[in-house]
Amino acid sequence: MIIINKVHEAKEIVSAWKAEASGSLGFVPTMGYLHEGHLELIKKARADNAKVAVSIFVNPTQFGPNEDFETYPRDLERDLQLARMAGADLVFAPDPSEMYGHAPFVTMTAAARTNVLCGRSRPGHFDGVVTVLTKLFHIMQPDKAYFGKKDAQQVAVIKGLVDEFFFPLEIIPVDTVREEDGLAKSSRNVFLTADERMEAPKIYKSLKAGRLFSEKEKPGAEEIRSYILASLQDIKGAEVDYVEVLQYPELIPVTDQSSEIIAAAAVKFSGARLIDNLIWTRS
Ligand code: PAJ
Repeated sequence: MIIINKVHEAKEIVSAWKAEASGSLGFVPTMGYLHEGHLELIKKARADNAKVAVSIFVNPTQFGPNEDFETYPRDLERDLQLARMAGADLVFAPDPSEMYGHAPFVTMTAAARTNVLCGRSRPGHFDGVVTVLTKLFHIMQPDKAYFGKKDAQQVAVIKGLVDEFFFPLEIIPVDTVREEDGLAKSSRNVFLTADERMEAPKIYKSLKAGRLFSEKEKPGAEEIRSYILASLQDIKGAEVDYVEVLQYPELIPVTDQSSEIIAAAAVKFSGARLIDNLIWTRS
């Protein structure tokens, strides 16, 4: 596995791969501290492509001033071992100065699908995500890029980015990987206290209860939302940041009864804000 941290090195290797015409390139962007969710994306990319590149970069521009950029967990040596074992051919792990060397000439704003869910709670977050992915996609030139459905709003925003700017690549969404008790795997789970870790699976349980209620009773979106909220409020020692039920992937109020709907929640514990979602069709 090749390990590099300079943009020019990544470009040289990708050019050489393309010149070899060795088949498709799959790309898995991450912020590191890899867990089985990330590894599932790498394994999927491995199964689909001749070459697999992973980036590990805690992207400063997607963190707000009072968020956890400084304390975000990092362990590059462990990540490199895990990426190698999952089948990556290349890991690109740049420094912030390599990706953001000077004040920006151009800034990007994610204008749609961002006034709800995490976009509302984390102003500017998705501007940082589309900025860094535009840079990474230009550097790596992948044929396919893999993203987890755990961050379903991120998938919706990135699909918008790729469509609008004609990026010649395909976005592949991958199912959420969970712990045995249903808690979605997340790099931030390490910040839960033992008591919080016992409570955290109730996020997914509440979303599943909402889906069951939806399937059985065929209620409206607002009723599903209230049902899930009531269940989330039983979680001890946590505060519900948001719960919303929207049409997916547009992330607008549900108007098309045959489209997919998403129920998504964010819950704040003492040291970590966790998100999860479920997507289903009502017909
Ligand atoms: P990060 O949080 O490291 O996640 C990297 C990728 O792993 C994302 O596509 C995310 O959805 C996926 N992922 C995380 N937990 C998962 C789980 N339990 N099951 C399946 N997939 C999971 O998302 C980011 O980084 C950044 O915003 C990034 C896209 C790299 C841009 O900086």
